[in-house]
Amino acid sequence: MQKLLIVSHSPSANAKALTDAVVSGASNKEIDNVEIRERPPLQADSNDVLWADGVILGTTENFGYMSGAMKDFFDRIYYPCLEHTEGLPFVLFVKGGIDGQGAKNSVERIVTGLKWRQVQPTLVCKGEFKQDFLDDCENLGMTMAAGLEAGIF
Ligand SMILES: Cc1cc2nc3c(=O)[nH]c(=O)nc-3n(C[C@H](O)[C@H](O)[C@H](O)COP(=O)(O)O)c2cc1C
Repeated sequence: MQKLLIVSHSPSANAKALTDAVVSGASNKEIDNVEIRERPPLQADSNDVLWADGVILGTTENFGYMSGAMKDFFDRIYYPCLEHTEGLPFVLFVKGGIDGQGAKNSVERIVTGLKWRQVQPTLVCKGEFKQDFLDDCENLGMTMAAGLEAGIF
């Protein structure tokens, strides 16, 4: 059984809808051998990361950076995980208002320090909310879970 951790900050209905779509994709009924653990970043800790075979990160962009909750998560897990999670496969999705690049860059910089391995390009959902966001998030979750199950990641 592969273990997939989803750490996503969902402060609004739109952001929650994206997180739910990611979880729904990762829970696709065709995927049998992946256990999912979903945690808001303020509740996730280093034990969750050390448990995981793969991680999906989700954050809003706030003030041109990742959300404060996601930053708090990294502040707490960075050193406990640093020597133990090298190569951990991860993907990132960002919910921005009109941008999202700052959140993307800030998360990618930290996971570069952790030496995690990005297995899909970062998904940035910005501008007027649309169905494509939900479809893309569902696909992101499904691809990550299917890739873990297949041993591709
Ligand atoms: C304090 C605050 C700062 C924000 N800063 C940015 C920002 O720098 N760039 C951006 O694209 N959106 C920004 N936003 C918009 C959020 O990313 C957006 O509200 C969030 O993705 C939730 O999406 P929703 O408003 O469609 O529900 C900010 C929102 C808040 C509350």
